[in-house]
Amino acid sequence: MYKIIRKEIFSPTTYMWEIEAPDIAQASRPGQFVIVHHSSTSERIPLTIADYNTGRGTITLVIQVVGKTSKEMTSYEPGDSILNVAGPLGEASHIMKFGTVVMVGGGLGVAPVYPQLRAFKEAGNHTISIVGFRSKEIVFWEERFRYFSDELIVTTDDGSYGEKGLVTEPLKRLVSHGGVNLVIAIGPLVMMRACAEVTRPFGVKTIVSLNPIMVDGTGMCGSCRVSVGNEVKFACIDGPDMDGHIVNFDELLIRQRRFDKYEKIALKRFDSSQ
Ligand SMILES: Cc1cc2nc3c(=O)[nH]c(=O)nc-3n(C[C@H](O)[C@H](O)[C@H](O)COP(=O)(O)OP(=O)(O)OC[C@H]3O[C@@H](n4cnc5c(N)ncnc54)[C@H](O)[C@@H]3O)c2cc1C
Ligand code: FES
Repeated sequence: MYKIIRKEIFSPTTYMWEIEAPDIAQASRPGQFVIVHHSSTSERIPLTIADYNTGRGTITLVIQVVGKTSKEMTSYEPGDSILNVAGPLGEASHIMKFGTVVMVGGGLGVAPVYPQLRAFKEAGNHTISIVGFRSKEIVFWEERFRYFSDELIVTTDDGSYGEKGLVTEPLKRLVSHGGVNLVIAIGPLVMMRACAEVTRPFGVKTIVSLNPIMVDGTGMCGSCRVSVGNEVKFACIDGPDMDGHIVNFDELLIRQRRFDKYEKIALKRFDSSQ
């Protein structure tokens, strides 16, 4: 059992858990994820390790309510325990001194980009962060980002805070001025694809973190298959980080929707049982 020691509500649809998991915290590296199985009757869902603290023996997860399981999990409070957390899974991000690294986080993607930002800063890079939200009320972790960023740009879709517009606007500005050595983009698939299209003409290497539907997280079931260049990759063991310029996003978007019908039924059943 894994005890939740802290919970923070970021918005009506986003919450954070800090969980006691000393072995996972010890082994975690930026870019990795866990699979959470909160009760014996629940689905297993992959979640990025948004932070880890070896001193406290904890990992931090930031969760967005999108369907039955993520909604079901909102009822847990500090002191409660969840059944199982498997991890760390996936390949750790490739952290080294590249020069200037731009980190782009869109919505919930802001959480998984954070451990990479910290690691790139600690590796001696000049770090520029662009974090984008729909509106001011759902901005989170601004101070954490400011601490490890040489420059921080916050955008909101509605202009209620920071720069008005999408994260791709400041990204375009930065890469067109030159001097950017690497871009890391994490967020919804359409946002990651848009970031990769912005950097493509400038030839700036762009890493995205893919979130295909995962089942086992160990490369056995094939659910997280993605086409990258001329190769078939499994995001759970070859990723989740991939080269955004060669990911087949069209295929991935279609595969991501393959259980839509059943997910809607499960959520409806769950809501009507409450
Ligand atoms: C490597 C990885 C890291 C992730 N990190 C985070 C994170 O830090 N925070 C977060 O909120 N979400 C994260 N996700 C997505 C999260 O796993 C899904 O939102 C969750 O599984 C949805 O479950 P549900 O029952 O609430 O919704 P459902 O109704 O089952 O699904 C809603 C949507 O979520 C996606 N989804 C459903 N099941 C899965 C699955 N098993 N794997 C991946 N996507 C799925 C699909 O796009 C689906 O349309 C990550 C996914 C991956 C693969
Ligand atoms: S989740 Fe099963 S192969 Fe990746």
